[in-house]
Amino acid sequence: MRQTELYDLIVIGGGPGGYNAAERAAHAGLKTLLFEKRALGGVCLNEGCIPSKALLNSAKTYEHALHAATYGVTCNAVTINQEAVVARKAKVVRTLVSGIHAKMKHAGVTVVMGEAMIAGKDNNGFLVSAEGKTYTGKHLIIATGSSNVIPPLPGIQENLGSFVLTNREVLELREIPREFVVIGGGVIGLEMACYYNTVGSKVTVVEMLDHIAGPTDRQISTMLQKELERKGVTFLLGHNVQSAEPGTVIAVDANGQRKAISADKVLLSIGRRANCTGIGLENIGVAYGRGITTDTMCRTNVPNVYAIGDVNGHYMLAHTAYREGEVAVNTILGKGDTMRYHANPSVIYTQPEIASVGMTEEACKAKGIDYEVSKLSMRYSGRFVAENEGADGLCKIIIDRKRRTILGVHLIGIYSGEIIWGAAEMIEMQLRVTDARQIIFPHPTVSEIIREVLWEFND
Ligand code: NAI
Repeated sequence: MRQTELYDLIVIGGGPGGYNAAERAAHAGLKTLLFEKRALGGVCLNEGCIPSKALLNSAKTYEHALHAATYGVTCNAVTINQEAVVARKAKVVRTLVSGIHAKMKHAGVTVVMGEAMIAGKDNNGFLVSAEGKTYTGKHLIIATGSSNVIPPLPGIQENLGSFVLTNREVLELREIPREFVVIGGGVIGLEMACYYNTVGSKVTVVEMLDHIAGPTDRQISTMLQKELERKGVTFLLGHNVQSAEPGTVIAVDANGQRKAISADKVLLSIGRRANCTGIGLENIGVAYGRGITTDTMCRTNVPNVYAIGDVNGHYMLAHTAYREGEVAVNTILGKGDTMRYHANPSVIYTQPEIASVGMTEEACKAKGIDYEVSKLSMRYSGRFVAENEGADGLCKIIIDRKRRTILGVHLIGIYSGEIIWGAAEMIEMQLRVTDARQIIFPHPTVSEIIREVLWEFND
């Protein structure tokens, strides 16, 4: 029988979930192998979270320059150079990808750049092949991520990559489209709508629901919609896309009314699907539905096989994947650890950005939870007013009426994404309002708004 290399752990997929799990495992002394078929960092680093932040930061800088006079600064002939924006984005990605290679090397993780396939199992462990070689792992972590949902609608498949773009191509456009249509008013759609609107496109967002930003607190998502409308974005809510042939997107409402929207480019952002097929799950009997079925320790139905990140279909967020990887590795190491998702923050990096953690009012109502709400405009924060001429924002805190513990925190306004982890900690630690008030917040910061809102409750 052919000799294979034996590892304590094989990780399939080098996105945030996979590379972080591999690093943690190697640091803990496990002989670890990581497979990646495209680029370390996965979708998040190469064609998602990070490159989109680079673009959005260019848009923010451009917007600041356009409105510099408000702050007493003169900027003449402000322009944006899309070629330069995309080149800088590529440099940011290159830097961070090479950083992950260095991290893996430092940790002692063996990285194989190639497409891995689970071939089966023998007495030593799981057999995984790539690039004509077979490797054996005592434990397996599957972190193969997710792919765009591509609906079978006229014009979509055949124009993919040219007229119809996904998160991959939309970050590579060298020319700013005159008319840009976004299908799906979720996270990717809103961030890219924000970018292209700021840099000069006429943007229309088509969303099938009656609101944008999915499960976000409704008051916050309405505020975001109003602000983006004020900046020029058009929203077509309650509309389903019927076709996207070059030049025109056809959307239809619940009454069957058709609307033709003219477009140079279309972004398809209607959600993502877990990558469960083509990796050999059947060869070892791993069960999956919309994602690989896992428990709170990220264990699959097959002993010693774990699934983390987008592929388990719980939360398609990089930071959730990081934590799931740590839970899986701790479980392998025999250290008790479980996933808790109730304090899992989320951020949408629009301008203004929104961030939330825990329960929304809508979720409390749906679950019949007796809750109380306090909220304040961000303008109660000195730093917010000093840095945001004419802008507004909101901080909303939801608590359990009887227990007085914090259930949810929802923010819209500058720095929201940088503040929210503190709120997540309050929820994770099950702090009551009176406990959380004892935290000293630095002054002047926008984060102080949380403290102000806590004092709005009658405790
Ligand atoms: P999403 O699930 O956030 O939004 C998809 C939207 O498309 C929904 O609002 C849905 O109602 C709408 N939709 C579905 N079918 C439609 C149709 N036929 N016509 C019109 N609207 C339709 O998915 P998105 O934006 O593609 O993002 C994918 C994943 O990537 C998400 O799970 C998200 O968590 C993750 N992501 C996270 C980011 C962040 O944390 N800032 C940034 C980018 C992506």
